[in-house]
Amino acid sequence: MEPGKPDELYDLEAAAVKKLDMNSSLINFEALADENNAVKAVRRVPERVSENDLAVYRGWMLSPDKYKLLYDALRSKGVHLINDPESYKHCHYLPEWFHLFEGQTPQSVWLDKASLSNNPMDAVMERLQAFGSSPVIVKDYVKSEKHRWDEACFIPDPSDREHTQRVVLKFLELRGSNLEGGLVFRKFVNFKALATHSKSGMPLTKEFRLFVLDGTIIHWFNYWEEGNYGDSVPPLDYFADAAKKPLSRFFTMDIAQTEDDEWLIVELGDGQVAGLPENADVDAFYRSLSEQLSRPQ
Ligand SMILES: Nc1ncnc2c1ncn2[C@@H]1O[C@H](COP(=O)(O)OP(=O)(O)O)[C@@H](O)[C@H]1O
Ligand SMILES: [Mg+2]
Repeated sequence: MEPGKPDELYDLEAAAVKKLDMNSSLINFEALADENNAVKAVRRVPERVSENDLAVYRGWMLSPDKYKLLYDALRSKGVHLINDPESYKHCHYLPEWFHLFEGQTPQSVWLDKASLSNNPMDAVMERLQAFGSSPVIVKDYVKSEKHRWDEACFIPDPSDREHTQRVVLKFLELRGSNLEGGLVFRKFVNFKALATHSKSGMPLTKEFRLFVLDGTIIHWFNYWEEGNYGDSVPPLDYFADAAKKPLSRFFTMDIAQTEDDEWLIVELGDGQVAGLPENADVDAFYRSLSEQLSRPQ
């Protein structure tokens, strides 16, 4: 937003990198996202001469096509982003990774953008039959409107067409042209609760974000800033095998425990665009990242 400076949200991350033996450069996000100008976006990135200059992007989410523009522009400067465009999409879009974790993640159905163009509710109701009258949540292939929980996320009875339509249309209106991929509906699971969000009424679940690099869980965070986690820690051993499945070098796995004590995967994300919680120990995260990156593969 200001030339030559990282956006405020990334200040601490930029500072953390400077403390380590790593180089960093700024990307002009607006040039990429708004102008489709990847060459301008990477202008500040110096050309590299060595063949394998590995880089990690840390910043705002990018649609898969924008990520590919960034990836290609950096490649032509000799800089190789850790995830190629296919790997980025694989963890970014739920329908891409879902099949790896059937049974370990809430049951889900989806509809691509193309099938939403005229009268989407017929197609939506048809897909929703899979859930009978059990509650679901709606999101797109990447994000939900979880902060508008009752209005645009939670569907208490998906066989109730009128209520479902209200939530779905509100969700589509809020996403607008930022809708990624299409619509996803997921069976609502009773996750263990921490609290109810003070502003939005959204249930806060005892959820953790695991960062995985080259199949190893390198770092984890409490997903929410508010709510009392006590001294609970995520079962890293339990997810060690799951962490090896996605076709991506660097990704996140959000996990939560159900009321019946079962641990499930809530969602995956690309590690480059996954946020860190506000109270995170950013330096410790970058130390973990740097240590694992310098291990021989
Ligand atoms: N299937 C589900 N059952 C119950 N709660 C869910 C389910 N999926 C998501 N949630 C809750 O909604 C929140 C947002 O969902 P998530 O898929 O992580 O979307 P976002 O990408 O917007 O973070 C989660 O952190 C979790 O608390
Ligand atoms: Mg999430």
